[in-house]
Amino acid sequence: MHTNVTELFANLWENYLTVTPSADKIHALLGSSQQDDVINDHIALRTFNLPEIGLEKLAAHFLALGYVEGGEYHFESKKLYAKHYEHPDANVPKVFISELLLEKCSPQLQQIVKNLVAQLDPAVTTADNFLYSGRHWPIDQATYQTLLTESEYAAWTAVWGFRANHFTVSVNALSNFETLDSVNQALKKAGFALNTSGGEIKGSPDVLLKQSSTLADEAPVEFTDGTAMIPSCFYEFARRFPTADGSLYRGFVAASADKIFESTNAR
Ligand code: NI
Repeated sequence: MHTNVTELFANLWENYLTVTPSADKIHALLGSSQQDDVINDHIALRTFNLPEIGLEKLAAHFLALGYVEGGEYHFESKKLYAKHYEHPDANVPKVFISELLLEKCSPQLQQIVKNLVAQLDPAVTTADNFLYSGRHWPIDQATYQTLLTESEYAAWTAVWGFRANHFTVSVNALSNFETLDSVNQALKKAGFALNTSGGEIKGSPDVLLKQSSTLADEAPVEFTDGTAMIPSCFYEFARRFPTADGSLYRGFVAASADKIFESTNAR
């Protein structure tokens, strides 16, 4: 496991850029030329709730770096459970980890996922690079399509494995943009497609968090029977509002996150 949080995030970012080329361009579009004001609010990771690779296995890497558990979130229709983690240093990005609840899925999906994960060497889950190690099993295109018809989340996770699903620009920290809407307008003007599920902006000052996101890029995936372009990762934008004590809200909003998940849907 990593002992240096800066190094971990640098590696996650580098890995994310390999399949999310738009992130570099968005970083340049939103950032100031005077200062480094593109600050990462949080990353998100996805997994399946099997004992070898469940949410807690991913979380262990962050707990070892001093993170503490924050809130928990339920997504009934998507059959997901999630927790967020925060670091005592508020400048260190928060982490949102979700897992697919396999027992709520079809026997066919359960069997496919168990067969894939059975090919993973359990030792990889404690290695330094686990959180950006990608996929640990071969998969063919028909299996991907079968998963996709039941759960976009399952299909994405089966193909991309362990990596940051998204990074998130803190709109609060940007010097050239005041509102989330102005960020969205600049992104659209530059040609980036936004996730419109639930509206371009999810949340409101009432729930202390407003979020938007791009639609995922597409990147080549090597299946056992050929290469295909598949939705990869996306960039999120978050504006946080102050709580009663004046500090910015640090949690997440399940109703908004539910729509953000759809950023990896096929266009
Ligand atoms: Ni997010």
